[in-house]
Amino acid sequence: MSLYAPERQVTPSSPPVVTLRPATPADAALLAAWDREPHVIACSSDDPEAEVAFDGIDWTDELSNSAYELTYVIAEVEGRPVGVMAVCDPETEPSHYWGEIEPNLRAIDIWIGPAEWLGRGVGTAMMSQMIDRCFADPAVEAIVIDPLNRNTAAIRFYRRLGFRPEGRRMFDGDDCLVHRLTRPDWEARSR
Ligand SMILES: CC(C)(COP(=O)(O)OP(=O)(O)OC[C@H]1O[C@@H](n2cnc3c(N)ncnc32)[C@H](O)[C@@H]1OP(=O)(O)O)[C@@H](O)C(=O)NCCC(=O)NCCS
Repeated sequence: MSLYAPERQVTPSSPPVVTLRPATPADAALLAAWDREPHVIACSSDDPEAEVAFDGIDWTDELSNSAYELTYVIAEVEGRPVGVMAVCDPETEPSHYWGEIEPNLRAIDIWIGPAEWLGRGVGTAMMSQMIDRCFADPAVEAIVIDPLNRNTAAIRFYRRLGFRPEGRRMFDGDDCLVHRLTRPDWEARSR
């Protein structure tokens, strides 16, 4: 501390207040723009040639088709969209992306859109709220996620939330490291 500078309270930056709302077809253009962000492309596939995330998914179709059984949620800070999550029951999700899997689970995908919002606590707030929502259903026993095995930053983020690694698995040609968060682990963490 300088003898001459006025004394200043040094506090770590407080995490932003994050609110969640359902995504609607009106969010399609926003999500398509986020699909062009390098950090979103990098998390979506092992393909080094990919120029757009999620194979250029048609978001208008995705957000309009309630038969997909995927729930998309937009995270906002001060009314500005900053991230998105997709949640499903991996056992009943119609594409059977997860293959044979037991009931009473939820699967979550998450990404921050604008790069300037990375590493500012938004993802932790988003996931914490969504995990609480999932476990609010007493039937839900655990939450599964499938980060790419090379996505070490996301894996560190998930493990900090209490997810534990289950094993490597190939999904559509991508080398993923499946993790699971059990209800007891989440409840122990929240105490
Ligand atoms: C993974 C992801 C969703 C995490 O969200 P995030 O908002 O960046 O995560 P957080 O800020 O909550 O925490 C991550 C880091 O920021 C730090 N952090 C947390 N709160 C913070 C704050 N208020 N101010 C500054 N840094 C903070 C954490 O300590 C952590 O640091 P570390 O991982 O380097 O040790 C986000 O980084 C992302 O979208 N990555 C690209 C897409 C992706 O990989 N998605 C996952 C696919 S499986």
